[in-house]
Amino acid sequence: MDVIIKNGIIITALETYKADIGIKNGKIVTIASKLDDSSAEIIDASGKYVLPGAIDGHTHLQMPFGGTVSSDSYEAGTRAAACGGTTTVFDFAIQQKGHGLIQTAKERDALCAPQACVDYAFHVVITDLRPEILDEFQDSVNFGVPSFKVFMVYKKEGLMADDGMLYSVLKKSKEVGAILAVHAENPDLIDIRTEKFLKEGKTSAWYHYLSRPEFVEAEADKRAIHWAKQLDAPLYIVHLANKEGMEEVKKARDEGYEIYAETCPQYLYFTNEVFKREDGRNFVCSPPMKGQESQDALWKGIKTGDIATIATDHCPFQSYEKDWGKDDFTKIPNGCAGIENMYPYMLSEANKGRLSFNKVVEICSTNPAKIYGCAPQKGSITIGGDADIVIYDPTKEFTISQNNMHSDSDHTIWEGVKLKGYPFMTFSRGKLVYKDGEFLGKPGWGKFLRRKRK
Ligand code: URP
Ligand code: ZN
Ligand code: ZN
Repeated sequence: MDVIIKNGIIITALETYKADIGIKNGKIVTIASKLDDSSAEIIDASGKYVLPGAIDGHTHLQMPFGGTVSSDSYEAGTRAAACGGTTTVFDFAIQQKGHGLIQTAKERDALCAPQACVDYAFHVVITDLRPEILDEFQDSVNFGVPSFKVFMVYKKEGLMADDGMLYSVLKKSKEVGAILAVHAENPDLIDIRTEKFLKEGKTSAWYHYLSRPEFVEAEADKRAIHWAKQLDAPLYIVHLANKEGMEEVKKARDEGYEIYAETCPQYLYFTNEVFKREDGRNFVCSPPMKGQESQDALWKGIKTGDIATIATDHCPFQSYEKDWGKDDFTKIPNGCAGIENMYPYMLSEANKGRLSFNKVVEICSTNPAKIYGCAPQKGSITIGGDADIVIYDPTKEFTISQNNMHSDSDHTIWEGVKLKGYPFMTFSRGKLVYKDGEFLGKPGWGKFLRRKRK
């Protein structure tokens, strides 16, 4: 064996037990109560928890958006991911008009491959649906990209899918065994509300929230679920942030439909109150954080299993870019940093007793691996799986600050948030890429993950 992790408490989605883990050639080759091998490097995990690395199913690295490009390169974003215990990152490859699906994935891969510090995959965002594109869905699945996304918003940006397109893409995804993810908000409502506020001179970040409040998101959630039900097609709603949408997801799931909801740590920790702050523009993302009732509904959804996954929607912009919207919320590039905070925040909530550690592993690692077609290689601690492992110190007190984060972002919305416990080491395919505050990996290590659903 190359490495043995000894004396730790292993936590998976289903079990908690004490055992040693043997790693060879980047894979977990054995799990036993006591392992010894004089040629192996021994990592002593006494007093610590040993978890599968998190999977962030939703990031926007180096993405042209909001009149600029999100400020974390693939290198910076995946470096930060490793330091927060995330060992697989799913980024969005946005189809340019006239481009094919595999072409889109390959173009992103060319950018990502030399930079990636942890393993990565893509969802292809469809913006230009033509008959040839529908014909390419099966090829994309065969190529190892069985997940697509459409934006039900961003009309002016040329990214939006209307209902006809949403319906066609859902239908085709089902036929080829892929899954469709949607960003659900109602674009027409956002437009008329925004126009009204601007006319009235209401331009602070608070009006970003009011331009797209709870019911604007809920309508689109319901519409997407409606089409998915009609077609009996799998549907994945990204960054769900409102109570009514949560209830609709629950109803559909109770009726037996394959509907998954993802939410993000920012919706579980912050409410719309942040938009009243002087630095409210730094929190501007879409959908916006909602009221307390919605936050409570999301936490309830985690408990009931109706929130399937947690992801970050990591899409940072530098302070000077956020400042473009100081006097006009429509000029604030939408998105925040979070890739390094997901696992630490969720595990800290478990450590404080809000939910179990097993549940955190389930929603941050095991479920995304299953839903997106990379289990059991990813998302669990299992013999034959990749040795993507986090050693977690439950006793460490940690205060999040821009100074102790590892992305290129010059601020964090999580500044000052106190966590109980923190990742101590991260292994990516058996290689130590993070230890106690220090990034130890290197760009180019991360591999493109070819996936297969079911
Ligand atoms: O505000 C956000 N979420 N920016 C990134 C793009 C998206 O809608 O996910
Ligand atoms: Zn979105
Ligand atoms: Zn997003």
